[in-house]
Amino acid sequence: MAFFTVFGNPVAHSLSPQIHDAFAAQHGLGIRYLPSLTSAGQFRRAVSDFFYCGGAGANVTVPFKESAYELVTHLTTRAAKARAVNTLIPLGFGQLLGDNTDGIGLITDLRVNCHQQLNQRAVVLLGAGGAARGALHALLEQPVASITVVNRTIARAEELAQDSQDSRVTACAFDALAITSGALVINATSISLTDKSGTASLPIATAELAKATCAYDMMYGAEPTVFMQQARSAGVTNVFDGLGMLVEQAAVAFKIWHDVQQLNTPQVIASLREKL
Ligand code: ATR
Repeated sequence: MAFFTVFGNPVAHSLSPQIHDAFAAQHGLGIRYLPSLTSAGQFRRAVSDFFYCGGAGANVTVPFKESAYELVTHLTTRAAKARAVNTLIPLGFGQLLGDNTDGIGLITDLRVNCHQQLNQRAVVLLGAGGAARGALHALLEQPVASITVVNRTIARAEELAQDSQDSRVTACAFDALAITSGALVINATSISLTDKSGTASLPIATAELAKATCAYDMMYGAEPTVFMQQARSAGVTNVFDGLGMLVEQAAVAFKIWHDVQQLNTPQVIASLREKL
């Protein structure tokens, strides 16, 4: 039986094993997918041991995506742009291909599950960390009109915009943010993780947020995230969390590892939603 894992810390909460088991069941495949808790000091060793023992593929989650990017012998173009790896594919002879399926997972969720049009859309991307970088490069593959990167530390937003080398991208501070009517606002900050009280909010003027027609949080949880609550109070009609992105990024990895074309992702999203 082929075995798979997800490396992370913490990782016990990861839904990846359930998602991959559900996809495997759709195709009648017998797989074993377990979480691997590791540390920064042990990550490299844990990955090489896993593949030495015959592991067929692995996912990488927080906080090891950048370490995985450093460790692989080969990178897909999208992983190179994101500077982070969430999917490891063994090539044999100790060689590892690093891919990043987060960005395409986001785009698929936005387009297919959330029914959002990206053609000529104004996009506001909140955050300038690793999650925002991956999202930015995937969004730039789409015919969006503009992407405004907004961050608490403006220098990081400016660096991301400059690195993208795309004239559609500009950087902006929260207090200077002017949202275009009909914009899509994506939260790639980690405020939901860093604010344990669940009471903090992003410093966006309600009148500005109200101009958006969709607010999407790359985080998810049993309850609406801080950003989702903020968007709903501002009157934004289409508000989504990132559970669909999680399932869609997993679907891309599953298709690569198992060479299958079709997966019923809405079914898996619905069943996970019930159990959150
Ligand atoms: P990740 O890889 O998950 O993106 P990260 O690189 O630590 O993690 O980035 C976290 C992002 O969330 C950053 O954009 C951070 O803003 P700063 O660059 O100013 O630190 C943002 N962030 C985290 N907590 C925040 C908060 N309470 N308010 C606003 N932005 C926050």
